[in-house]
Amino acid sequence: MITTVTLNASIDKAYHMEHEIVGGTVMRVARVANSAGGKGLNVARVARLCGSDVQATGLVGGFNGQYLEALAEADGIRSRFGHIAGETRSCVNILDPMFSSTEFLEPGPTVGVDEFEAYLAEFPSIIAGSDVVTLSGSLPAGVGKDSYQKLVRLALGEGKRVILDSSGEELRLGLEASPTMIKPNQDEIEALLGAMATAQDNVVTQARSLREDGVEQVVISLGKDGALLACEEGCFRAIPPKVKVANTVGCGDSMVAAFAVAFERAMAPREALAYAIAVASAAAMSPNTGEYDPADRDAIMSHVEVRAVG
Ligand SMILES: Nc1ncnc2c1ncn2[C@@H]1O[C@H](COP(=O)(O)OP(=O)(O)OP(=O)(O)O)[C@@H](O)[C@H]1O
Ligand SMILES: [Mg+2]
Repeated sequence: MITTVTLNASIDKAYHMEHEIVGGTVMRVARVANSAGGKGLNVARVARLCGSDVQATGLVGGFNGQYLEALAEADGIRSRFGHIAGETRSCVNILDPMFSSTEFLEPGPTVGVDEFEAYLAEFPSIIAGSDVVTLSGSLPAGVGKDSYQKLVRLALGEGKRVILDSSGEELRLGLEASPTMIKPNQDEIEALLGAMATAQDNVVTQARSLREDGVEQVVISLGKDGALLACEEGCFRAIPPKVKVANTVGCGDSMVAAFAVAFERAMAPREALAYAIAVASAAAMSPNTGEYDPADRDAIMSHVEVRAVG
């Protein structure tokens, strides 16, 4: 089983508009789609579509929290969330013909120190039945920047493989706990290492330097240009075929999901990379975040080019 962690979860509300939005007026929404949101929930949905057993955890509260758990369960995802007093936030994405997407992200509740301590104490039992744990996204107010570091240590201590997909200080501190894998994109790696990471040689060097810090596998995702994986077996670059892109939001989450599935199925690194690229590219073809068509994945898989570099 795979456990995905979402500490700053939300009810994601997609407002589909027939007409372009006009500020300062009353607008009627043509169709609403609600989903259990936050990057970890995207990971959970995609891992489920890959055929894995998935459990979602993190922090939720109030009626929105209950609703989120019900939405996750409806998607075939078990929920094992810790409960807080604050109400889980909603995030609204307005999709209209003019601006395409306009997002309103609520700040979310502040988590009490005691609430997070209680969650940390429960965490080992929550992940007991899982092989892989993924940690994704931003942290809620009230928890320390070292929260991922603590969770990575707990999961590794329980013998789990851990994928950390975060950015900034959370990622930097998380690295000190040596997660099994990290998956920064180019912006995140540049922010982390403070250097331009555009030339392929630089990306290779940077991925390698992070391995020296104790991370077993470093993946740097490069959007439409694919991804790079540095691991014990070497450094591999994967280039996807050109696909018809519908929505690239959450493609990185799809990639994390695919690597979690690959760990669970004990795929060799080269195979895992090709699989992850195929899933992420298929996700780019899907209009809905956290979804892909397995037929697209299989069609792309045979056209992914993986070669050793550096
Ligand atoms: N335009 C695209 N065409 C094809 N594949 C894409 C495209 N954008 C992303 N992908 C696939 O998704 C993977 C991850 O994308 P990206 O590097 O944009 O992640 P990210 O910035 O972490 O995304 P997010 O955080 O929104 O989930 C890429 O390595 C690639 O396989
Ligand atoms: Mg990302």
